[in-house]
Amino acid sequence: MAAPQPSTDPIRPTAERRVALVTGAARGIGAAIATELHRLGLRVALLDRDDTGARALAKALDPDGDSAMAVRADVGDPEETENAVRAVSSAWHSPDVLVNNAARTAPGSVWDVELDEWDALMATNLRSVLVLTRLCAPPMRERGWGRVVNLASLAGQQGGLVAGPHYAAAKAGVLVLTKIFAQELAPHGVTVNAVAPAAVRTPVMDELPAEALRRAADRIPVGRFGRPDEVAALVGHLAGDDSGYITGATLDVNGGSFMR
Ligand SMILES: NC(=O)c1ccc[n+]([C@@H]2O[C@H](COP(=O)([O-])OP(=O)(O)OC[C@H]3O[C@@H](n4cnc5c(N)ncnc54)[C@H](O)[C@@H]3O)[C@@H](O)[C@H]2O)c1
Repeated sequence: MAAPQPSTDPIRPTAERRVALVTGAARGIGAAIATELHRLGLRVALLDRDDTGARALAKALDPDGDSAMAVRADVGDPEETENAVRAVSSAWHSPDVLVNNAARTAPGSVWDVELDEWDALMATNLRSVLVLTRLCAPPMRERGWGRVVNLASLAGQQGGLVAGPHYAAAKAGVLVLTKIFAQELAPHGVTVNAVAPAAVRTPVMDELPAEALRRAADRIPVGRFGRPDEVAALVGHLAGDDSGYITGATLDVNGGSFMR
């Protein structure tokens, strides 16, 4: 691919100057996505409630802070989220690329989940996608270019319960919100897609017994867990200029665990 040329158009930044906001970027898949987008030449804002982890990665990416910054927010809190987006917009400009990656799991039975816990997880895993897209997409629409990538899950397609019933329901909601926003924004140069991973090796799995991990890996057609950088490579493509005809799609990164 040809190197991006400096733009003379002030409202349409080139890839060199584009700003990406990645939520849940302190570790795991979000950290890999932030690293990949930075490698591709974007300025990257790493939003996380874990400020220490996000700061450490931002510093590792760019010690001067010109092209990587950490912003602390809980995506379940709309006010904190809005303040974080405002901080990024005033430091650089409003994001050209938004990656809604932050989420948490809550294993448990559909019969036992507390209603408060259901609502809290929905706020983090689903409502945050609504809130952040409504904050970031209008300026993208005005500029006539933007990319939104939402991290979904195999659980949201198949009703897998390992991560919790409300987790699966929220991820199913993410898939539908992706299509709703994709339809709204398609005529304006803004694409909205979902990436649905399964069994990607992140720190969360280190807590599981080795034998359970081995048995789980054996059930995956490719015979191994995925790597965060394999998800990040796809997100990097979706965040670029060459993906303008892909929108409203759900792209699986699951080693063949679920084939449409
Ligand atoms: N790892 C997998 O196999 C897998 C499978 C399917 C889907 N996913 C999805 O991929 C995404 C990343 O998963 P991961 O495995 O890297 O997760 P992870 O738990 O390793 O990392 C999640 C990050 O999000 C942050 N975060 C969580 N809640 C937050 C909140 N309320 N506000 C701000 N930050 C918050 C955490 O601090 C952490 O840095 C998630 O959306 C997850 O549902 C992962």
